[in-house]
Amino acid sequence: MSTTPDQARPKSSAFGRYFFVFMLGLVLGAIAVVMLMRTLDERRDHFPDSVMHVQAWHLNQLGSKATENRCNATDIIPHLKGLRTMADDLEHAFPGLSDDARFVKQASSMRAALDGALSAPPINCEGVNAVVTKIGETCKGCHQDFR
Ligand code: HEC
Repeated sequence: MSTTPDQARPKSSAFGRYFFVFMLGLVLGAIAVVMLMRTLDERRDHFPDSVMHVQAWHLNQLGSKATENRCNATDIIPHLKGLRTMADDLEHAFPGLSDDARFVKQASSMRAALDGALSAPPINCEGVNAVVTKIGETCKGCHQDFR
């Protein structure tokens, strides 16, 4: 039995092999990047962004209610209460900023705006829009300095 390589078999081209290895590297690299990003994302604290997104949702709801002409107390007050509850969490959501007097002041002015709105709830959609603007200004005030 001969041990010499079969001369008749065509050799695979070097280009083909390098290209295969290159593509394999690319795919494995992409998988590794996705895994790394997911791990980093899992380790990140989602609480602060979640507080913000829930607040944004309630504020949006208030805006849509006014657009839809649904401005009864039962439409509006739950969202004001939701915002007021979340406003108590601002310092907990951003522990790194809770020592900053300006941050606490911005958070307090949001709570004050909501306390005002809850103690004298808007009685029509015009009033709801005014409240939305007022609350929105307190969001903006803090974002200008800290976002
Ligand atoms: C006292 C400070 C403060 C107030 C008040 C505040 N925010 Fe924020 N907000 C922040 C900070 C700080 C960030 C940046 C968070 C980050 O990037 O991790 C932020 C980010 C956000 C984001 C982006 C979140 C993300 O996933 O990156 C949204 C949306 C948001 N705020 C909505 C609101 C709304 C709506 C209000 C008012 C109802 C509000 N915020 C009031 C401090 C505040």
